[in-house]
Amino acid sequence: MLVSAKKMMADAVKGKYAVGHFNINNLEWTKAILLTAQENNSPVMLGVSEGAGKYMGGYRAVVGLVKGMIEDLSITVPVAIHLDHGSYEGAKKAMEAGFSSVMFDGSHYDIDENIEKTKEIIAIARAQGITVEAEVGAIGGEEDGVVGAGELADPQECKKIADLGVEMLAAGIGNIHGKYPANWNGLDFGILAEIKKLTGDMPLVLHGGTGIPVDMIKEAISLGVAKINVNTECQLSFAAATRKYIEEGKDLVGKGYDPRKILGPGFEAIKATVKEKMEIFGSVNKA
Ligand code: 13P
Repeated sequence: MLVSAKKMMADAVKGKYAVGHFNINNLEWTKAILLTAQENNSPVMLGVSEGAGKYMGGYRAVVGLVKGMIEDLSITVPVAIHLDHGSYEGAKKAMEAGFSSVMFDGSHYDIDENIEKTKEIIAIARAQGITVEAEVGAIGGEEDGVVGAGELADPQECKKIADLGVEMLAAGIGNIHGKYPANWNGLDFGILAEIKKLTGDMPLVLHGGTGIPVDMIKEAISLGVAKINVNTECQLSFAAATRKYIEEGKDLVGKGYDPRKILGPGFEAIKATVKEKMEIFGSVNKA
């Protein structure tokens, strides 16, 4: 069932668990994540970066694929199609195309411009029942050419953005996209606790979910994180399973070259990764 993120976020804050946001790239990713959510009776958010949207043909193609699959596969758990790290123009386009949720990432603007632009996106979104995620403090690492320095968000700025009426707030707390370096300092729970204190029941979003140790994930959830973004980990498990298939020469046996066979192990690997995350995040049986 395609929905905005409003109710699933409110439920997650109340129930003290987090909904997984998993980035999609193509049909296999989408199908693997939707089926895993249904099998585990879990709400889910399908994250679409601007780059992935373009790769799949455009935002309308993404919406058509997701809506068609929800219907054809009888997916009854709540599913949101969410633009990930959207630009101002990108967020507007995604909303026009039928996304049920968007992130407007204004973290690279100064706070006043971030506030102004976030307000405009909220006004458009609200009229259509679409949910909005905003960001304060750039998330480190590199994602689709957007490079952030791994800042710690200013809690007062978080409050200002939260007060605009966004439904979700991403705040930099030492998290980064991609694999964590060996000398990573870990999440800054002091900052997270301050942000939580100032923003009340605002669902907080933890980007860079790949590779964060389970105890840190659980602590983050206990401090108000209600949405956790995972991208790289599905890519790594897909790549490893696909590599194994080819290295074992399975594509050379019988009709092993059939794309539906070649992509099979990677598809199963994504499912296993998503299931494991849903269990850690606590969203199983919360649909
Ligand atoms: P990872 O690729 O580190 O899992 O981060 C995903 C993310 O935050 C998408 O916005």
